[in-house]
Amino acid sequence: MSNMYTRLINQQHPLPEGYIPEHLVDIGIPFDALPGDSKRLLEMKTARAALRLISASQRDGLSLYGVSGYRSYSRQKQLCTGSPYVAAPGTSEHQSGLALDLSCPAVRMELVEEFAHTPEGIWLARNASLFGFILRYPKGKEDITGVPYEPWHIRYVTKPLATYLTLTGLTLEEYHQLPQHRKSDNPIQ
Ligand code: DAL
Ligand code: ZN
Repeated sequence: MSNMYTRLINQQHPLPEGYIPEHLVDIGIPFDALPGDSKRLLEMKTARAALRLISASQRDGLSLYGVSGYRSYSRQKQLCTGSPYVAAPGTSEHQSGLALDLSCPAVRMELVEEFAHTPEGIWLARNASLFGFILRYPKGKEDITGVPYEPWHIRYVTKPLATYLTLTGLTLEEYHQLPQHRKSDNPIQ
């Protein structure tokens, strides 16, 4: 699929039911799931970037763990309970293999807002873009993303776009609404 890394995936822009990313890998980052569990899988470039991110955080003395990476359409369908934290099948970035939920022992590996105030959560918010990730569902942008604040959910969008979105404070939704000439001002084009 072209431009997969910068693609908008949300309620209005779902993935096809049969979409499965090519090159899903378990790159061996620390994970709160046993080897062999498909939630440890990520798309190849995303996996490499996640490994660099986790290694850098470890050098800073931190303990980030993967909690949820790839999720198939049918797995998302099973999980979908109507909670705003769980996207409808086809509309989750986890189906793309480009999204990763992270947590840390200080919040018992849970996906909770408290994570944002841990050293790991603070580090992630400051450093994710250096590795090509954005915090996809920021606080204050819930009306635009349609998803509550999720300080644990990062999305790989490549380094140039992650830098652009982080510097401008735009969400992926807002980026995709920019007129073409504005988009072409940014370094990824
Ligand atoms: N938690 C996000 C919205 C998802 O299920 O993809
Ligand atoms: Zn997530």
